[in-house]
Amino acid sequence: MSVRPSEFAAMPIPAERSAVAPDGSDVRVLLGLAGGGMAHFELAAGETSIAVTHRTVEEIWLILSGRGEMWRRQGDREEVVSLERGVCLTIPVGTHFQLRSLGREALAAVGVTMPPWPGEGEAVVVAGKWRPTVSANEQRDFWSQVAQSYDRVVDLQIGPGTRGRVRERLAQEGRLGNVAEFGCGTGYYTEILASHSAAVVATDLSPGMLDLARERIYAANVTFQTEDVERTSFAAGSFDGVFMSLVLHFTEPEKTLLEMRRILKPGGTLILSNLDPGALRGLDRLRCSVRIVYQGVTGYRRRPPRRLGANVLTEARLRELLAKAGFEILACETLRDPSRSSYIPLEYVKAAKRGA
Ligand SMILES: C[S@@+](CC[C@H](N)C(=O)[O-])C[C@H]1O[C@@H](n2cnc3c(N)ncnc32)[C@H](O)[C@@H]1O
Repeated sequence: MSVRPSEFAAMPIPAERSAVAPDGSDVRVLLGLAGGGMAHFELAAGETSIAVTHRTVEEIWLILSGRGEMWRRQGDREEVVSLERGVCLTIPVGTHFQLRSLGREALAAVGVTMPPWPGEGEAVVVAGKWRPTVSANEQRDFWSQVAQSYDRVVDLQIGPGTRGRVRERLAQEGRLGNVAEFGCGTGYYTEILASHSAAVVATDLSPGMLDLARERIYAANVTFQTEDVERTSFAAGSFDGVFMSLVLHFTEPEKTLLEMRRILKPGGTLILSNLDPGALRGLDRLRCSVRIVYQGVTGYRRRPPRRLGANVLTEARLRELLAKAGFEILACETLRDPSRSSYIPLEYVKAAKRGA
């Protein structure tokens, strides 16, 4: 926010973030003058940002809280600096830089951008020193924005009958006890889960999706909350069952499966419904990829998160990861809408947590 030089301005720091920065951190825009603007940056605990460089602006940062590191490179010169409260550092124009938050609390800083932030296209993604973890922010924003169109578009992508088949299959399960659902989306499966469970905590990363689910579901034994399935807020051994449909491939599957194992009780049940492109052959596989991309682009009209769908798993790989994460597969079935041979089948997998 820039003000005319003759004006005095004052504002409290906004309670909500103003935007997600191109590097994936949360930004709260503060005041500015003709020569520069100030913003508050926050990178959640344990996260690593996307490495970027700025085309025209330079910045000076002061770390307010948290602990972490910043990597900076200019040509052949590079260094990693430790970050903690009170450290001040510069990011000259053209520096490639990346942040990671290593403490128990978020890494927070204020930065002055000079001249003021020019807008879209200023930050360019570059190769960094560490693997970024913040793609969850992009997922959160994308799914919130497309929430209203989701049910229509997904049925065009995978076939109108496919999710119905998964729901029927879920209805055949016995009592599931206390259940957590991750990536519940618009709540398509939440009611059927509720009717087979003592209680369901229906969760999603995207507030926009959760709002729709809340409007749709009236079951008394369902509560809603925001959760990232890769790092949930639940205590170890909290649930008898976990359900997740069309979510695993938007995450780091190994990390997610370990987290699911952690929050399940010994012997607890994990039910997954995943895309199964390996069940299609030749031209059908090609047609299904074209349909998914075409319906997604025309139906959502939003730029998808980077690497959307890059972690789609084959059945063999999923089996391998489940075994490695300490699960025993109890059932694995392919469910599909047979009205078109190129509708992508879903794999319905039920697994039990081995050991304690
Ligand atoms: C393709 S939709 C699936 C929705 C619903 N489960 C279904 O099958 O119809 C993917 C959902 O996963 C959520 N999601 C993506 N990444 C997530 C994460 N890391 N943790 C929790 N939810 C996530 C999205 O917000 C979105 O609602």
